[in-house]
Amino acid sequence: MRTVAVIGAGQMGAGIAQVSAAAGYHVLLSDIDLTRAEAGKSGIAKQLDRQVEKAKISRDDADALLGRIQPVADYAPMAAADLIIEAATEREEIKRKIFENVGKVLGAEAVLASNTSSIPITRLAQASPDPARFIGVHFFNPVPVMGLIEVIRGLATSQETVAKIEQYGAALGKRLVFANDAPGFIVNRVLMPMLNEACFALGEGVATIADIDAACQLGLNHPMGPLTLADFIGLDTCLEITNVLFTSTGDPKFRPAPLLVKYVEAGWLGRKTKRGFYDYTGDVPVPTR
Ligand code: 3HC
Repeated sequence: MRTVAVIGAGQMGAGIAQVSAAAGYHVLLSDIDLTRAEAGKSGIAKQLDRQVEKAKISRDDADALLGRIQPVADYAPMAAADLIIEAATEREEIKRKIFENVGKVLGAEAVLASNTSSIPITRLAQASPDPARFIGVHFFNPVPVMGLIEVIRGLATSQETVAKIEQYGAALGKRLVFANDAPGFIVNRVLMPMLNEACFALGEGVATIADIDAACQLGLNHPMGPLTLADFIGLDTCLEITNVLFTSTGDPKFRPAPLLVKYVEAGWLGRKTKRGFYDYTGDVPVPTR
């Protein structure tokens, strides 16, 4: 495997492009237009500059890594890719359209993968030209830091496709875990109920934002408290995944917390809108309750 294409140059797509290039792959990076793909590459360059300043990587290695990332305006160059990873907006109709379009240039041996956090792989595979060569590869944010890739087999995913992803994951130095195509896979099945429960606890007045976060951070040794992590992921994303768990299982234990729904309705989506459970307009995040 030599060439990896990444569709979507946002936070996840850029992270996947960065770690793929760091592993020595030639990377094609696309978004809705070339400007956005180039902006994704500029973000990676800034990230690498910080690593160079901290002497975590040499200037030469950073430049070589960047040189392996090629922003592209459309899918045509992806005909040469061995692996195409879609990391676009988490909306099924958008992803299906991408698979239909990129499917037209997908090489005869190439694998098509989705970084979806919650949409069933078996269903998405129906929009691809060959469900046997379709698979879920779920990365975690921030991609360069997090050591895990969740691999999700659809019903039709072939063993050969799984083997290619095993080889790719090993090259990236990530630990792979294998999940069946069940709602939330492993991580979000376990994580989202915890974040949702923190929202219930806040809504019911159990404790303040700062104390709920400190309790879990220090009492459980988590790097971030649940409300900080929810803001980091995006409250809209948390709600969307919780709704997938709730609607696809019908189990009331997954029902979204009313406060989480309200925050999303208010447009308070976390760090990305500078307001979630914390206010991010100043130098340090300030709890809003
Ligand atoms: N990109 C690249 N590197 C980053 C980064 C980013 N966005 N953010 C932080 N880093 C690096 C820093 O450069 C630093 O590297 P160094 O040790 O080589 O100098 C290292 O990470 C630690 O960063 P900081 O010292 O700035 O900050 P922290 O020690 O507080 O760590 C954190 C930040 C890594 C984000 C840590 O708080 C953490 O692990 N939080 C939990 C993250 C998590 O749970 N992610 C999963 C979310 S769920 C998900 O993604 C699934 C989806 O489907 C919802």
